[in-house]
Amino acid sequence: MIKNIKNQLRLAKRTLLTETLPRLCYRSERLSSMYYFLFDNSFSREHRAVLSGTVKHISEVKKTKNNYFLLVRNTHRIEKGLLMRPKRAVFGKEYIGETIECFSGVWNPDQIETNAQMKWFYDVLSEYFSGAKEDTYVNSLYERFKQIVSESYESKDAPAAVKSVPYIRQANNFAQIPFDEFYKLTKQRRSVRWFLNKPVPREILDKAILAANQAPSACNRQPFEFRIYDDPELLKEVVGYPMGIKGYGHSIPVLIVIVGNLDAYFEERDRHVMYIDASLASMSLMLALETLGLSSCSINWPDIESLERKMENFLKIEKYQRPIMCMGIGYPDPEGMVAFSEKRPLEHIRKYN
Ligand SMILES: Cc1cc2nc3c(=O)[nH]c(=O)nc-3n(C[C@H](O)[C@H](O)[C@H](O)COP(=O)(O)O)c2cc1C
Repeated sequence: MIKNIKNQLRLAKRTLLTETLPRLCYRSERLSSMYYFLFDNSFSREHRAVLSGTVKHISEVKKTKNNYFLLVRNTHRIEKGLLMRPKRAVFGKEYIGETIECFSGVWNPDQIETNAQMKWFYDVLSEYFSGAKEDTYVNSLYERFKQIVSESYESKDAPAAVKSVPYIRQANNFAQIPFDEFYKLTKQRRSVRWFLNKPVPREILDKAILAANQAPSACNRQPFEFRIYDDPELLKEVVGYPMGIKGYGHSIPVLIVIVGNLDAYFEERDRHVMYIDASLASMSLMLALETLGLSSCSINWPDIESLERKMENFLKIEKYQRPIMCMGIGYPDPEGMVAFSEKRPLEHIRKYN
């Protein structure tokens, strides 16, 4: 009898929380927020991560002036100004000040060899200032720019002849890949879940990641990292976290966890961008792997608190970093089947105008 009442109460509570209240609250944004605040903490980790990222971004910009993502974003904005048609003589006055401040924190000429973006920052800023000398404010920042780079770069070595600034693409340099071959490659890539027990050379993985690195990303920020596990002990551990690889996880020779960086943004409005950017890069990665004889399987990383905690500890990531997805990689076992995975018809996924 008591057990029955308890069961009824439990059921009523579940219905209230998962049906009645959601149906009541979805009608307004405030009620929806209230619902998640009072009854469901599914978004808590995301809230904290977004906030941690914003705080880190803003405090770096204000205090240490070395938010790398901001410098990338603003260098990108300047490039857009430089390629604008018609090009304005003076532009970007609202952000050039913070760009130079950030540049002063990030600039390190000793890294030119290992980080091509250093040269890009320098070249784009030089190009910007060379075209906007008439403006007093811009000119004052030009002086500051020269001060920052003078001893450490210009006097040591002249900038290389080919500048990392906007350019006209040369058609004779384009890849010679006919559509049919490309389409074949997109169909060749299928989620592979059975791999050979054969080590994957890191040089090959790096090659594929270089290709992934060419993917577009919002303001060129690339707010993600590929954390690669090929060490058998670590692999064994990390393969145990994602839920979607039960039954075949043991066959995976390399697992990548793609981690997103929320400190790339100063406002919540951009909180989804890292997922888009990481996905675009991941797609390029998977296609590149196929051209190199390797195969892959994307693996879901659901927002489940207990798993998140384990993964966070394993990866030793900060609160503003979040695993986006995982990817199993290896040489495909020729005897392992892949799912047919027929795709939705063209008419279902595209609509003109
Ligand atoms: C974001 C994402 C998450 C995925 N998660 C899993 C997963 O956890 N386990 C799995 O076996 N496959 C996973 N897949 C692979 C999909 O099942 C697969 O891409 C889909 O069925 C289409 O098949 P195809 O990749 O062979 O074209 C995932 C794919 C994506 C894009």
